[in-house]
Amino acid sequence: MTESPVQERMADHWRSQVYVNDQSYFHIPVPLWLQVRVEPLWRESVVARLGRVLADRVPFERVVDLGCANGSWTLAYLKVAKTALGVDVNESFIERAKELQRAHTEGSRVEFRVSGMETFDDFAGADLVGIGGCAQYLTDETLESLFERIANAQRPGNIVYIRTNVTTRGQQRYWTEHGVYRHGDEYERVFERVGYKTLETYRTIEYAPAVVMQRLLPSRSLLPVRALAWPVTAPLRLYRDYTEHADHRNWVLERR
Ligand SMILES: C[S@@+](CC[C@H](N)C(=O)[O-])C[C@H]1O[C@@H](n2cnc3c(N)ncnc32)[C@H](O)[C@@H]1O
Repeated sequence: MTESPVQERMADHWRSQVYVNDQSYFHIPVPLWLQVRVEPLWRESVVARLGRVLADRVPFERVVDLGCANGSWTLAYLKVAKTALGVDVNESFIERAKELQRAHTEGSRVEFRVSGMETFDDFAGADLVGIGGCAQYLTDETLESLFERIANAQRPGNIVYIRTNVTTRGQQRYWTEHGVYRHGDEYERVFERVGYKTLETYRTIEYAPAVVMQRLLPSRSLLPVRALAWPVTAPLRLYRDYTEHADHRNWVLERR
């Protein structure tokens, strides 16, 4: 498949990055020392949530984690899956992922590969596909054809977990150097068209502060922590909704 110039540019941008630290592929507006403490809490909590929501399907046989960067999500998926494959277009990120794999006690259950999502097609037996923080680097055509390949390989009941930037309420889609910010509905139309139904969807801004507070305040359920996190999440939500700021959405999708 010949990619559009826009798609090639975005992939080239990512291919040319060199891994220096975890801000080489992702950064939230906090210092690195804080990011590397907070991000694992978020990651572990999302994976644990997948395990809870999909308790009847855990452990998955095979996870394919697209745009895996340093592989920290790929390794985290081992909590809910027997094997995992991490795929990224950037060779130096994959080198770093292999270092983390060697240091991980369960690393033998993981494989990493350099490949672009534009052409990657090894989804056979993947009952869970993760698309974390990278769908925004795909044009509409590439996104749609990727989802078609996944849908063709997956069986009814199989799962896709996708997390991506979206526009906030009322905004039109826009492009930045960080990719395309689509409206959540645009993603949902693609999911629906290729044969997925949404099992759950949540905004990162609503869930992440509760996750961090849960670690600070021991609690058995997320509910009271959510209530405690409300004073933090409410102003953040308002800020997101009423400024030109991108939002971040998570979807758990099931193949029909
Ligand atoms: C923001 S990071 C997300 C990393 C990780 N999945 C996470 O959720 O934190 C985006 C990753 O997508 C990768 N990526 C971007 N475009 C890609 C493409 N066309 N094919 C494969 N990987 C790509 C980048 O190299 C980068 O590692």
